[in-house]
Amino acid sequence: MMTRRRLVAGNWKMNGTRAALGEVTAIARAAEAHRGVDVALCVPATLIARAVEAANGLAIGGQDVHGQASGAHTGCISAAMLADAGAALTIVGHSERRADQHESDADVRAKAAAGLGAGLGVILCVGESETVRDSGGAVAHVCAQLDASLPDAPADPATLSIAYEPIWAIGTGKVAGVAEIGEMHAALRERLVAAYGDAGQGMRILYGGSVKASNASEIFGVPDVDGALVGGASLTAADFEPIIEAAA
Ligand code: PGA
Repeated sequence: MMTRRRLVAGNWKMNGTRAALGEVTAIARAAEAHRGVDVALCVPATLIARAVEAANGLAIGGQDVHGQASGAHTGCISAAMLADAGAALTIVGHSERRADQHESDADVRAKAAAGLGAGLGVILCVGESETVRDSGGAVAHVCAQLDASLPDAPADPATLSIAYEPIWAIGTGKVAGVAEIGEMHAALRERLVAAYGDAGQGMRILYGGSVKASNASEIFGVPDVDGALVGGASLTAADFEPIIEAAA
């Protein structure tokens, strides 16, 4: 089996101005202290270039990317632009964008392909609502979402990561149980192997949704959990470092 380095990625969402660059530097220092784990920080687009300067080696990412290379898309940002700003990766298909910006699986697939095509790492998010979870259809729903969102195989499997984020666990303080996480990650691994063969074993599957210092170790102990996508607890080095430490 391929070995997978753990990846802990922060998602600042719509938070952060220049005043927060000190936290970027402090998070970069924390990452530096734990070289056994990959650490990334996905900041607002306005901060990418400055965060790259402040981060000294930490992988800085965007939170979204357009599926096309250029054109008449006011307000949107292409993968080449992200790379040009110094980004090393991008999130695609976050549930907040799937909901707020009505992004479809096909959109997400195009975004993932665009990111990989520009040499960026991609974190592709999937996850079910509380209604779907309560109906008992979570695994089937999330696997279907994944199947429809996956891009063509990347040259290096480590550049494509999946983030399983139950929508009901994001920003709510509720965390999926280890049994639920294990069941979902095993199912997603199967889908990755079905889609990409052996390369599917080299892709990281992250868990996301209210990950914090107090629950990170337990979550990282679940088979097929290769890291975390962290929102609220990535905003400060004080909250984020213990999660990096738990992954290391
Ligand atoms: P949270 O967000 O850690 O604040 O729940 C996770 C995410 O939405 O990526």
